[in-house]
Amino acid sequence: MSLPLRDREGESIGSYSVSMVEFKKVIVPHEIKALCDFDRRAFHRHPQDLFDPEDWELFESYWVIADGHVVGCTVLLHDVDYTEEPRPGCLYIVSTGVLPEFQQKGFGTQQKAWQIQYAKNHNFTTIVTNMRASNQEIVRVNEKFGFTVRGTDPDYYVDGEPCVVMELDLRRAQDLQ
Ligand SMILES: CC(C)(COP(=O)(O)OP(=O)(O)OC[C@H]1O[C@@H](n2cnc3c(N)ncnc32)[C@H](O)[C@@H]1OP(=O)(O)O)[C@@H](O)C(=O)NCCC(=O)NCCS
Repeated sequence: MSLPLRDREGESIGSYSVSMVEFKKVIVPHEIKALCDFDRRAFHRHPQDLFDPEDWELFESYWVIADGHVVGCTVLLHDVDYTEEPRPGCLYIVSTGVLPEFQQKGFGTQQKAWQIQYAKNHNFTTIVTNMRASNQEIVRVNEKFGFTVRGTDPDYYVDGEPCVVMELDLRRAQDLQ
């Protein structure tokens, strides 16, 4: 699989191919405790953002496995906006997480490439995702694949930090390839 990559100005800077890691669907409810443990470690900077155990029943989650070890987790919802309002054709990336000891090694980028391929394989037309305005690492990962900022939501996080909403229009992304 190969996906186009962009620099900070949105210019094409080549392509990204994914082959090193494997993605395995999380079995719920059997693995909810493991999901909570992962969430606590990956999102330790913002414990107020952690999901409750019952939330995981609603999500579709995938372990990111490298050399047999879990290094990350992707969390998805089908046909909803980031507010979880119905939005047919839209894949909501609820969460992209990498364990602290594996960050800055490209696993976030690999997850993003896989998420886009997943959306294409399932015929979604749009991907939406959201993040804290201070989270420049995930903003950067999204930008690399052509996601653009749709807007900000000042009411999303309870502590008042603005939430950035980013989207990728897959019909347009396919046109550009
Ligand atoms: C955000 C996260 C998923 C990124 O995963 P990762 O494996 O570290 O990401 P990668 O190594 O693939 O890429 C990180 C990119 O961010 C860039 N980056 C790092 N620090 C940065 C900063 N302060 N400002 C801007 N960009 C930054 C890196 O240079 C790299 O971009 P590049 O490939 O163009 O050089 C990971 O940090 C994480 O799990 N954080 C905690 C959970 C979280 O906040 N998830 C996102 C919200 S759902």
